[in-house]
Amino acid sequence: MKLWKGRFSKELDETANAFNSSIAFDSRMYREDIEGSCAHAAMLGSCGIISKEDAESIIAGLGGILDDIESGKLAIDMTAEDIHTFVEGELTNRLGDTGKRLHTARSRNDQVALDIRLNLIKASASLVEKLENLISVICEKAEQYSSAVMPGYTHLQRAQPITFGHHLLAYAQMFLRDIGRLEDAKRRMQINPLGCCALAGTTYPTDRMQTTLNLGMYEFTRNSLDGVSDRDFCIELASALSLVMVHLSRFSEEIILWCSWEFKFVELSDAFSTGSSIMPQKKNPDIAELTRGKSGRVFGDLMTLLTVMKGLPLAYNKDMQEDKEAIFDAVDTVSMCLDTFTPMIETMTALTDNMRHAAAAGFINATDCADYLTKKGLPFRDAYKATGELVAKCIELGQTLESLPLEEYKNICEDFDEGVYEAIDLDRCVAERKSAGGPAPENTLQEIKRIRTMLTSE
Ligand code: ARG
Repeated sequence: MKLWKGRFSKELDETANAFNSSIAFDSRMYREDIEGSCAHAAMLGSCGIISKEDAESIIAGLGGILDDIESGKLAIDMTAEDIHTFVEGELTNRLGDTGKRLHTARSRNDQVALDIRLNLIKASASLVEKLENLISVICEKAEQYSSAVMPGYTHLQRAQPITFGHHLLAYAQMFLRDIGRLEDAKRRMQINPLGCCALAGTTYPTDRMQTTLNLGMYEFTRNSLDGVSDRDFCIELASALSLVMVHLSRFSEEIILWCSWEFKFVELSDAFSTGSSIMPQKKNPDIAELTRGKSGRVFGDLMTLLTVMKGLPLAYNKDMQEDKEAIFDAVDTVSMCLDTFTPMIETMTALTDNMRHAAAAGFINATDCADYLTKKGLPFRDAYKATGELVAKCIELGQTLESLPLEEYKNICEDFDEGVYEAIDLDRCVAERKSAGGPAPENTLQEIKRIRTMLTSE
């Protein structure tokens, strides 16, 4: 049954009805729709816009509908126009005329704007929790591998020694920023559009602060046109979620590389790997690959939202119904990725011997060798040049800086002595990188502590 049928003499065409209906994707907001309606009814009652008795019956009736949906007694009618229509229709079936009073001083335009906000506030909180979970798993791993030396890369070329723990903690920083962005987006979701009505407010003496506080929000929207036509909060969330996916995707990419025979830095648990139907030797990092791939969906959702909104005149336009599939898909995709990615990291083991082996082979202690000369008083540029010559010598002789005899060192620069071997020892190179934010194991352990305190104090 259509809410707006008074003006119309013909039933809506079946195809047009299916095209117009949003119930398939907005039924997931049934809780928020009922919550918002209860707050609205309570306000109507206390402002004397409807009687107190009617308000109470409406609130009780909505409670009954909620219980019946949750218990499975009441199935949501998938031919309804949307969730708002369904709930109001069901209320009227149950309460008769009293049910029909609920929509006084309200429109589906402010109703839907509220419902999405309430839904996304919860979704954001749940995603923050999942990110916190991932960060604590990363911290555990980083602690375990705080002194596991590996090569750090630039241009995917071995560059300088770091530890696996330090590398992992880089991702913890990204996910911490993601939490910050989600919290920030959430703050702007907590502004209540209910009471804007269709677009121009109402002549009834409503109390918008009452519904605002009742719904646990802290402020109401200050312009009725903006209140019903603003979907910035969806775009902000999709943008924050796109960055989450960028981070998950980069992490995935590294895991995929590390799982290759070329690197063999990590081993994923069999429970988070898959095989090939033809090649019996294969163990594939499908979870990481799918996570990397799904980033595209979330970026697509963000583009959908931006494009839907960019040319809309004020205030509500039906185009805006397209917001929900996009933002819900982004929320569901990120949620699913985090649910799978986190235990994959938790059960991943580092092959620390292979990491060390790789670290020993790429002259990644060359900077330390130059620094050694610099600390003896040589200007850095001269030290850099001498070390470059040493590396060339090593390559010519098939040696490493560690195995090159002191004689060869001295041939290139008189200032070298026995001490150089200690200075280029990989463990020492890492341990001495104590500059703030650097990879020294003691820094890593301290940073883990700091992150853990931040997580528990939230
Ligand atoms: N299903 C609609 C949406 O998601 C609800 C608002 C409908 N409002 C309207 N004036 N037709 O946007």
